[in-house]
Amino acid sequence: MSIPRVVVLASGTGSLLQALIDESSNLNIDIAALISDGEVAACDRARAAGIRVVVHEMQSNRNTWNAGLLKILHDLKPDLIVSAGFMKILDSELVAEFSGRIINTHPALLPDFPGAHAVRDALSAGVRVTGSTIHFVDAGVDTGPVIAQHEIEIRESDSEESLHERIKVEERKLLISVVRDLTQGKVRLVNGEVVKA
Ligand code: GAR
Repeated sequence: MSIPRVVVLASGTGSLLQALIDESSNLNIDIAALISDGEVAACDRARAAGIRVVVHEMQSNRNTWNAGLLKILHDLKPDLIVSAGFMKILDSELVAEFSGRIINTHPALLPDFPGAHAVRDALSAGVRVTGSTIHFVDAGVDTGPVIAQHEIEIRESDSEESLHERIKVEERKLLISVVRDLTQGKVRLVNGEVVKA
C-alpha cells in the first residue's frame, strides 16, 4: 500500500504541523507540502524538515484565490488535507471536492465558540471547561462532523495565551491520533456522518 500523502494548511506558528512532522515516520505518512497564506513561522518549520512550502497569499479577487488553492491541491494529489491553524475559510467547491479528506483543528469544544477567536470567546463567556475539536470540514464555518474532542479546564489565572498553549498541548496529541485513525481507515465520513471501525 502506498504511503498516504498529507497536505497541511497553516497560517501561524505551526506547532501542530511540527507535531505531525515529528510523528510522520511513526504514522507512516508523507507530508507532501505545507500550504500557507503568508510567510509565517510554519513555513520555516516545513523547510527545516525538507517539506515543500507553497505560499498562497490572499488576492483582491477571492474567487481567483479560491481557484488557485484548488489547483495547488489538485496538483499535490493529497489523500488527506489537515487545516492546522489555517485562518482562511475554504471555498465550498474545494470542500465538496475533498469531502471526507479534509479535517480542521479548532481550539474549543464545537459547536461552542466557532470562528477565529475561540479561546478569547470561551474566556469572555466565563465557561469553566473548553478544549479542542478535530472535525471534518464542510461548507460552514467550524460546523463539520466532529471526529474527536478533548476537554481542558479553565483556570482563574488563565490569559488567552496561557489557555491556548494548554489547549495546543492536547490538540497536538489529538491530531496525531486522528491522523493515525484516518490514514489507517479506522475513521471515515459516510453520508455526512463520522463512522468509526
Ligand atoms: C491551533 O490551536 C488551532 O486549533 C487553531 O490555531 C492554532 C494553531 O496553532 N486554529 C484555529 O483557530 C482555526 N479557527 P499552531 O500555529 O501552533 O499550530
